[in-house]
Amino acid sequence: MLQYYDNTTLTSAVIPTEWVELWKYTMQERLYDIKTAADEMLASGATTEEIRVRFLGKKGELTSLLRSMGQLSAEERPQMGKLVNELREYIESALEVAAQAGQIDAIAAQLRDEKIDVTAPGAAFARGTLHPITQVERRLCEIFCSMGFDVAEGVEVETDYYNFQAMNMPENHPARDTQDTFYVSSNILLRTHTSPVQARIMEQTQPPVRIVSPGRTYRSDVLDATHSPAFHQLEGLVVDKGITMGDLRGTLETFAREMFGESTKIRFRPHHFQFTEPSAEVDVSCFVCGGRGCRLCKGEGWIEILGAGMVHPNVLKMAGIDPTIYSGFAFGMGIDRIAMLSNAIDDMRLLFENDTRFLKQFG
Ligand code: PHE
Repeated sequence: MLQYYDNTTLTSAVIPTEWVELWKYTMQERLYDIKTAADEMLASGATTEEIRVRFLGKKGELTSLLRSMGQLSAEERPQMGKLVNELREYIESALEVAAQAGQIDAIAAQLRDEKIDVTAPGAAFARGTLHPITQVERRLCEIFCSMGFDVAEGVEVETDYYNFQAMNMPENHPARDTQDTFYVSSNILLRTHTSPVQARIMEQTQPPVRIVSPGRTYRSDVLDATHSPAFHQLEGLVVDKGITMGDLRGTLETFAREMFGESTKIRFRPHHFQFTEPSAEVDVSCFVCGGRGCRLCKGEGWIEILGAGMVHPNVLKMAGIDPTIYSGFAFGMGIDRIAMLSNAIDDMRLLFENDTRFLKQFG
């Protein structure tokens, strides 16, 4: 770098004219040196802040040069001021460019660091499965739909009328005892079975009626291995002219073979339901041992899966269907029970705990 005079100690009064020429030259030289130094520093990779402090800061080289201009004559001052300003603008715009380049570099670095390797193997995620109850429910509906049934929706919060009265269980009837439930108010309750859908459907449609209706049902039972206060049923109802118990038997036999295997047999045992007459409990031959007797059927060879019967004339009448013209059959089965039997699940609580270690076995 060129040497220059420390002009702060000089005054025009003591400087000979030829020195002033030299001094002016020196001031331009200083400008030149500052520019060279700034260029070098810009190229060196110094930070914009370092450069700014060294040249443009309060004690910066360019700033002190500007201050010392008080030494110049009135004519020279604007000329020199212009040069100093030009250099200041030059450095500032160079810093601006450097800052922009820095930003671009930062973006480039970010793009490099955050690059996603699309060829990397993906992180495995757990795949959900349908709940075993849902699977059985869908399978049941599928089988009955293939036989010409429609699927009807019911309501879980039911009135006393549909749950009991319309099912031939008037107030204070002892048959209500077996179906104790949760009451929302004195005549609104959580339905104890899917049978109220029978009455709702018959009120809305004239025969022929051919529906199944799956859904949640409730009874005030304590949760244990074989009971749950909330469970699932599938109701079936057929009403038309000339429907007989033979139709019921044929329908259930076809269903049982489809659901539990071609060689499955069914048997009817006399029973009592308020809303069917005659009534039966229906067993299927054990689908594990084929009827010889095993652990699943407890040595019986038969497994009870549903209740059924011919729709009681009172039920038809209350729903606005003439029992002298029409007859019908109905059945109701426990979906949870079928899910347990067909998947060898020995504790009902497993169906409601939603432990994924259990559920993922049904994928
Ligand atoms: N609703 C009866 C129950 O829950 C089952 C059933 C339905 C019986 C239809 C006969 C006819 O026990």
